[in-house]
Amino acid sequence: MRDETLLATARAARSRAYAPYSRFAVGAALLTADGDLFTGSNMENASFGLTVCAERVALWSAVHAGCRSFSLLAVAADCSPPPTPCGACLQALWELAGDIGVIMGNLAGEVVRRSLSGLLPEPFGGVAPEPAFDAATDAAAEIWRLPASLRPIGYVRNEFNDRAAIQARYKRALSQVVIDADLEEGLHRLEEEKRIIIIGYLDRAKGYALKERRSGRGGEVYGVFACRDPRRPNHIAQSEVELVERQGPVLTVRGLDLLNGTPVLDIKTVLPPEEPKTAP
Ligand code: THU
Repeated sequence: MRDETLLATARAARSRAYAPYSRFAVGAALLTADGDLFTGSNMENASFGLTVCAERVALWSAVHAGCRSFSLLAVAADCSPPPTPCGACLQALWELAGDIGVIMGNLAGEVVRRSLSGLLPEPFGGVAPEPAFDAATDAAAEIWRLPASLRPIGYVRNEFNDRAAIQARYKRALSQVVIDADLEEGLHRLEEEKRIIIIGYLDRAKGYALKERRSGRGGEVYGVFACRDPRRPNHIAQSEVELVERQGPVLTVRGLDLLNGTPVLDIKTVLPPEEPKTAP
């Protein structure tokens, strides 16, 4: 991405600032190593000290989305010279993003380019910006790499809180799929179906293995795309179940292999069988 594009994004992000006290809107755009973009704007509060700068809003939303590798930050405000990130933001960026490039711009078109280490030559915590994440935190990040555009529509309610219990018994067990009340209209006439497809988000799955022994397949080796193992590159589940009953936004289904509390992303009907071919 061009520097100008990143800066334009930071300028646009200013419009989302909540800055009624200072009336000084700041926008930030953070580019990840994978080319994803996260924006932020300053968020103020009547208790002034609670204010969070645009840069940290962008940084933390990126980290929350599972990003751990960054290349460039752009910051924009209506001041001359262009705004330099404050010391607190530089310190936070140093720990999570390392020595990235920083582009600072204003509305008059002035641009200043620096490196993070140029702006913060002696950060707290030494020189090596190795993020202090442990394996558990990394696994959690993997879970939350759910794009923000996917909106869970409900969740699963059943007696299964761990994998071992569900594997043995899900086929005959009843589960409830509880759909958000504001989406209930979308279930209109679903009760006419005998079998439906539930798409879930495997929120407790961690990472994936392309090829390994699969417990659900007699302990034999299968590729991840040749089995239903929850540990897959995208933790999406698809289950075809029997629809036993619908009561308003609550579906009772049989045969759902999803744990209690699993977010549900979608419901679909099963493809109708092909029309039998008539003889010519
Ligand atoms: N601000 C930022 O958003 N980024 C900075 O690097 C410095 C300051 C915000 C915080 C506050 O809402 C306003 O600018 C005035 O200080």
